[in-house]
Amino acid sequence: MYNDNPTLANVQDKQVDEAKQGQVYGEAATQPAAGSKQFYIESYGCQMNFSDSEIVASILGEAGYGPTRDLEAADLILINTCSIREKAEETVRKRLRVFDKVKHRKPGTMVGVLGCMAERLKAKFLEEEKLVDLVVGPDAYRDLPTLVAGAEEGEKGVNVFLSREETYADINPLRLQSNGVTAFISIMRGCDNMCSFCVVPYTRGRERSRNAFSIVAEATNLFDRGFREVTLLGQNVDSYKWTNPETGELVNFAQLLAMTAAVHPDLRIRFSTSHPKDITDDVLYTMRDHENICKYIHLPVQSGNSRILDLMNRTYDREWYKSKIDRIYEIMPDCAISSDVITGFCSETEDEHRETLSMVEYARYSMSYMFYYSERPGTPAARKLTDDVPLDVKKRRLQEVIDLQTTISDELNRKDIGKSFKVLIEGESKRSDADWKGRNSQNKMVIFPKVPGTQPGDYVEVSVHDATSATLLGTQIA
Ligand code: SAH
Ligand code: SF4
Ligand code: F3S
Repeated sequence: MYNDNPTLANVQDKQVDEAKQGQVYGEAATQPAAGSKQFYIESYGCQMNFSDSEIVASILGEAGYGPTRDLEAADLILINTCSIREKAEETVRKRLRVFDKVKHRKPGTMVGVLGCMAERLKAKFLEEEKLVDLVVGPDAYRDLPTLVAGAEEGEKGVNVFLSREETYADINPLRLQSNGVTAFISIMRGCDNMCSFCVVPYTRGRERSRNAFSIVAEATNLFDRGFREVTLLGQNVDSYKWTNPETGELVNFAQLLAMTAAVHPDLRIRFSTSHPKDITDDVLYTMRDHENICKYIHLPVQSGNSRILDLMNRTYDREWYKSKIDRIYEIMPDCAISSDVITGFCSETEDEHRETLSMVEYARYSMSYMFYYSERPGTPAARKLTDDVPLDVKKRRLQEVIDLQTTISDELNRKDIGKSFKVLIEGESKRSDADWKGRNSQNKMVIFPKVPGTQPGDYVEVSVHDATSATLLGTQIA
């Protein structure tokens, strides 16, 4: 994911910001009625956090708070935080310094920390950051109205209880700054994998899947309101599993995909993230058989070397991952695949790093989110392995992966010149108000001059005449 405007409502940790491309929000949605109380929210980290902020916004409505994009005008300032890498946490602490200043200028303003860093640090946050009033973990957002009411009376509030059931299935998210065309739907929460480098199982708790009918109902409601694309979100969507309590019938991810695809042929379905070990042929066939399920899979490899993958506890090796890539291209030759890569994991040698480079080459990723390893306290890797690759080596290896990925993205995009794609218009291009931007099924951003009579939410056919490593440039032909 990439965010346009880091001074406004949704900001990501810099590494992600630099590497990720995706949802770009348009203008602010609902404005509160004059005189009512206002909250301001900033979100960091993954799409799950952005989606959670929309759930928080909906819950806060009950407490009489409406959204504002003006930090200085807010009665309640919230920051939805990420712990995935040290840098993400540093960014949050920097923002808290800025909020402290606002609080000094405007006594009575409340500051709340939400999300993964709240969960990781719990009440310690209140000791470390004296001006924080609320600390609320990802499963405790229903408690926000009570906690905010307490904070209004000057009580500090903490709720970091992790649930085995909470999926916020019944909450209709308030689409913050929506472009009115694309939206996220959270389909599961938590993660039961134990990748040794990763903090998510500790900050998000156990994996649980949301009621399939509530997901389809949310997709239908979005379609009726004019949305044309939904992204089904979870840390590991392929392990989605929901049992209908009335019939005992099990819905798996392939079935859920088919159910959401059936909402309307003009509703595009995307999903993220897939764990290589869990994506089944059934899912691939369901994608192939539905035109409106986008031909794009985010399939993080993390490393191309089997020994490192074993230390990471990813439960697959290099050959197994390669056969998964082969299978995807075999079933859907036009599918784009993207990845996440970590360089300089504990004890990684130069030869092992080269195997990551060769994997990027082999898989022909359309793009990757690339990071150097950042040790996270409490994770299996922090407890059992030594973070022994020097920072300059980690960074140099990262740069090599980035350079290779850029070359491959550029090559792949150039191969698209001369082809035409069905593009969903998302809004105006950042560079010029004479151009639309939208994405093709493969999740590539396409920029093309506006044709009178077209608008965001329309599907148009665009012929590509030029490309960079990040974008396709084209002309509308139908
Ligand atoms: N559930 C997803 C990823 C969630 S975190 C999956 O399993 O693929 C997003 C990405 O951040 C990961 O894929 C990984 O590449 C990166 N990441 C996670 N922990 C990290 C760490 N300690 N240091 C560096 N990068 C990390
Ligand atoms: Fe983290 Fe692994 Fe779970 Fe992804 S699958 S969130 S990397 S533990
Ligand atoms: Fe960050 Fe939590 Fe997402 S640690 S990546 S916000 S699940």
